[in-house]
Amino acid sequence: MSEPVPVDTKENSLSDSAQMPERGFLWDFWYPAARSSAIHGRKLVTAVLLEVPLVLGRTDEGKAFAMRDACPHRGIPLSYGRFDGKNVECSYHGWKFDGCSGQCMEIPSLTSQDRLRVDRIFAGHFPCQEHDGYIWVYMSSGGARLPEAIAAAPRLRTFSERYKSTHLACELPSHIDHGIIGLMDPAHGPFVHQSWFWRSQTSIHEKAKQFEPIPYGFRMSPHSPSSNSAPYQLLKKMTGAPVTTTIDFVLPNMRTEEIRSGKLWFSSLTTVTPVQCDLCRIDFLAGWNVPLPIAVFRIFARTFLRQDQETMIRQAEGLEHNPRLMLIDDADRPAKWYFALKANLLESRRTGRTMAHPMDGPVTLHWRS
Ligand code: FES
Ligand SMILES: [Fe+2]
Repeated sequence: MSEPVPVDTKENSLSDSAQMPERGFLWDFWYPAARSSAIHGRKLVTAVLLEVPLVLGRTDEGKAFAMRDACPHRGIPLSYGRFDGKNVECSYHGWKFDGCSGQCMEIPSLTSQDRLRVDRIFAGHFPCQEHDGYIWVYMSSGGARLPEAIAAAPRLRTFSERYKSTHLACELPSHIDHGIIGLMDPAHGPFVHQSWFWRSQTSIHEKAKQFEPIPYGFRMSPHSPSSNSAPYQLLKKMTGAPVTTTIDFVLPNMRTEEIRSGKLWFSSLTTVTPVQCDLCRIDFLAGWNVPLPIAVFRIFARTFLRQDQETMIRQAEGLEHNPRLMLIDDADRPAKWYFALKANLLESRRTGRTMAHPMDGPVTLHWRS
């Protein structure tokens, strides 16, 4: 999919941009490729990000690495090869590559007569960072040519020494854009997430929320969350302090939420990662010091994610026939900002000019949910 094309002042239509050469992916950002716990010993693990097949591993020193899962000699996936704790040996002709740099270390077929500079050959490789239990991979558009200073990979924000945390993931049969606008959609709550413990459809009411521009994204300004949600009411009772929530969306794919009340806090980091054109993955990471057992939280969070996932599976059924779509004001305004941010970022990369922000300043949106 889908850049919004103005139809009239109130509605936008979505047309198909998944067909574009870049498939609507944003390169030169960090994406979570795998859980840290999946990469252990001398095991090689595969992952796909932005349609790039990757092989991940960990050196004997403990450093995680990510290479393109294709040998630069004849293209066989390097993940079929052997890993000795430092070098990956291709299963076809035994070329050896340093896992962390991708540099070729050895070509067994060469003789003393050969003049080939082995050290000038590189397998594709990508920068890796590891924290919050994820292997983050920087999907560089320039291959081995990396920008000089890369910002650090995202991190969960925490507000005390000790806290609990947990992670959940689920796949969506959707283009990244649908995954993301589903993530920021304020109007589906009463219909998709009806649960006795959260809220019912009848609790729908009018809301006014202030949003402000932030670099590469927008923020729902700190506010007191819905009075109709039981968990928030409980939190307020426990601390006696007001509850405030701040929700940010930042390109390429990240939603963060912070709920704070006195000394108690809850924080989450959710990313939607493009795997293939019609497949993305939600990774949800949460940390908190509110008295809430991990197992209980996971039951609720899993229910939420499953409700979203089932909805997206059904949506994909409809999207297969390429229907005309709409973005309406104000409930879909965050989705419009997302598309505009993305377009402006690509434009600024193309022209070398500063990225324009689609918002002039703070704005209040109104919707019922
Ligand atoms: S294909 Fe990998 S060494 Fe030849
Ligand atoms: Fe949802």
